[in-house]
Amino acid sequence: MAHIQEYQDLVLDAVEVVEFKLIRSKNDLEKDDMAFHPMMAHQIFGESESIFGYRGLKVQILYTAGPLHIYLGLEYDKKVDELSNGEIKADDVVATIAEKLPDGCYFVNMDEFLKTLDKADKFQPFGEKLAEYKTKDDESDNERHFEIYYCNFKYPSFLKFFSRLQTFVLWFVDAASYIDVDDPQWSYFICYEKYKNDNGEELFATVGYSTIYEYYAYPQHIRPRISQMLILPPFQKLGIGTKMVETIYKYYHNQKNVIDITVEDPSEEFQRMRNFVDCRLCMELKTFQREEIKKGFTKDKVKEARETYKLNPRQCRKVYEILRLYHTNIHDKDDYTAYRLDVKKRLNAVYHKQLSDIKKMEKAKLDTEWLRARLPTIKQRIEQLQEEYEHVEKDYKQIIQKLRDA
Ligand SMILES: CC(C)(COP(=O)(O)OP(=O)(O)OC[C@H]1O[C@@H](n2cnc3c(N)ncnc32)[C@H](O)[C@@H]1OP(=O)(O)O)[C@@H](O)C(=O)NCCC(=O)NCCS
Repeated sequence: MAHIQEYQDLVLDAVEVVEFKLIRSKNDLEKDDMAFHPMMAHQIFGESESIFGYRGLKVQILYTAGPLHIYLGLEYDKKVDELSNGEIKADDVVATIAEKLPDGCYFVNMDEFLKTLDKADKFQPFGEKLAEYKTKDDESDNERHFEIYYCNFKYPSFLKFFSRLQTFVLWFVDAASYIDVDDPQWSYFICYEKYKNDNGEELFATVGYSTIYEYYAYPQHIRPRISQMLILPPFQKLGIGTKMVETIYKYYHNQKNVIDITVEDPSEEFQRMRNFVDCRLCMELKTFQREEIKKGFTKDKVKEARETYKLNPRQCRKVYEILRLYHTNIHDKDDYTAYRLDVKKRLNAVYHKQLSDIKKMEKAKLDTEWLRARLPTIKQRIEQLQEEYEHVEKDYKQIIQKLRDA
């Protein structure tokens, strides 16, 4: 009788054995250096992110580079089914992944997949072109050409394509889920690379996307919220994410009914990108010039940033703090102290509010002992505040360096 414990070496890390490729031509099938691994696999294989039952396993998830038709395939040396004479079964990897894919839109037969690749050269971006962007590839020194398009629910064939594109989020964005493409309040910004194939024909490859939910605001306004952004790994760190944020802003800046733009639960990397873009834009505004910045966080800044760039007040405060540090001489004691106090006052606002609420309750002769017990002591709070400040300053300095380099 075979025991599962005997096969512990067949428990594999899904992040290591799963690999993706974006296929532009048949030659790419052989190119190992094109493959990239997922960032995470718990949304597919559970918390342990493991696959059981194979020796020498490679799980291939291939996408045609433009239209993103999907092939799922496995290669392995041995399976536990054979090793245990059929007593123990290996995980059904294809079925587990396929469960998360939109209905019927994947191939397990390579010939069928290759037929879609033959037709992929007809693939064209959907919607309205908003921006073009050229950059030099550091490795090959070739110029690369990217285009960003806007699209919405009015393009049914786009929604089918998008259902395939959003399959990447489960592997690359933490806690992400698929959006409901039938909801007409979603807007989509998609980036493609325009490239030439061996015959010199111009083709498009899909690069990444951002989804925006257009919330209604009384009486006839909208508040767009950036929900997800994903630049596929082979295209990351080329400045495309930054360009996407700028393009989204530009698209909404010109619309009078837009109140402000928010971001849903941003990752640290995304927030850094956004801070950089917002600071670069606001540096040009009247109320963010050196002398004005020194006057503090005044209402006219919130007004100008909202009216010009649709920044919400919270983000405007962040931009103010970064640009004030930019204009602060940290070697001048008074200048630097004034800056630190200003930021710490903001960081301490929640604690301050809690204290003043407790005092109000005590005036009304209410029992506050349990509330006071949950607050840090003054000494602890001073230490916490210093730590929070240092973290914030470190973050800001990175952005300032980028602003100086730009
Ligand atoms: C976060 C994300 C959208 C950023 O996209 P991106 O296209 O890589 O962003 P950019 O290239 O504009 O900027 C990323 C970094 O590359 C740097 N960079 C930009 N152009 C560069 C270039 N030509 N060469 C080297 N580095 C470059 C930027 O300065 C930035 O550096 P930083 O991280 O130190 O601040 C992308 O990494 C991603 O999709 N991540 C996974 C999903 C995710 O976290 N999404 C956001 C939350 S929903």
